[in-house]
Amino acid sequence: MREFYGVGIGPGDKELITLKGYNTLRNSDYIFIPKSKGESLAGSIVSDYIEGKNIIEIEFPMGESNSDRYAEAAVLINETIKEGQIGAFITLGDPMTYSTYIYLMIELFKFDIKVETIPGITSFNAAAACLNEPITLKGDNFYLCDGQIDDDILKKASSVCILKVNKNKENIINILEENGFKYVYVRRCTQKDEKVLYDKDEILNDNDYMSLIFARKETVNNLFST
Ligand SMILES: C[S@@+](CC[C@H](N)C(=O)[O-])C[C@H]1O[C@@H](n2cnc3c(N)ncnc32)[C@H](O)[C@@H]1O
Repeated sequence: MREFYGVGIGPGDKELITLKGYNTLRNSDYIFIPKSKGESLAGSIVSDYIEGKNIIEIEFPMGESNSDRYAEAAVLINETIKEGQIGAFITLGDPMTYSTYIYLMIELFKFDIKVETIPGITSFNAAAACLNEPITLKGDNFYLCDGQIDDDILKKASSVCILKVNKNKENIINILEENGFKYVYVRRCTQKDEKVLYDKDEILNDNDYMSLIFARKETVNNLFST
């Protein structure tokens, strides 16, 4: 059998990988690492765990269309993993949440190779924990989106997390304020340069792709802006 695993490595703190994810990396013959413009945050997070493994880096430049690259990467992975071997593709947070891995996995379904996904702790799970703020209480509706926020859905939500906020922060914050949400910006959650901002101007002045906005109508601590 030939085995391929998509491994969620969590939000950044290298202790926030699951034991199953760690064991899968340790058991793998090949580790496939996504890179963007030569850099890989995911690769640096698990660097201690993949020493001595065959490392294959795959470029998926951020902000560019990668549709051809998913198919090419699937061919590369399929040709690399031989009978009896195991390969793992690492992905930040959870593999099934807004990730490159999903498109790669779909391409891999075309080949005769076992594909299994190991879940990971998402960025928004990590942010809620870092803030000591629930994602959902009994009866709540949670809205997860990326880049844009839909006013009509927001009206029905008790809590919301917006990923990839970098390019559209002002608009997102205005919509949250108009709908009576308290919000907080979390950058590089659980990483060494983590930052938590509540002030609107400070949020607008910060620029980092690895950031999100988490908001609730009712909060359990009083740290949030109003
Ligand atoms: C392509 S999505 C990946 C989401 C990831 N698969 C997950 O489970 O959270 C990238 C976006 O996730 C968010 N993100 C990922 N890791 C983060 C972190 N440690 N702190 C804050 N936001 C993060 C940012 O909004 C970023 O723009």
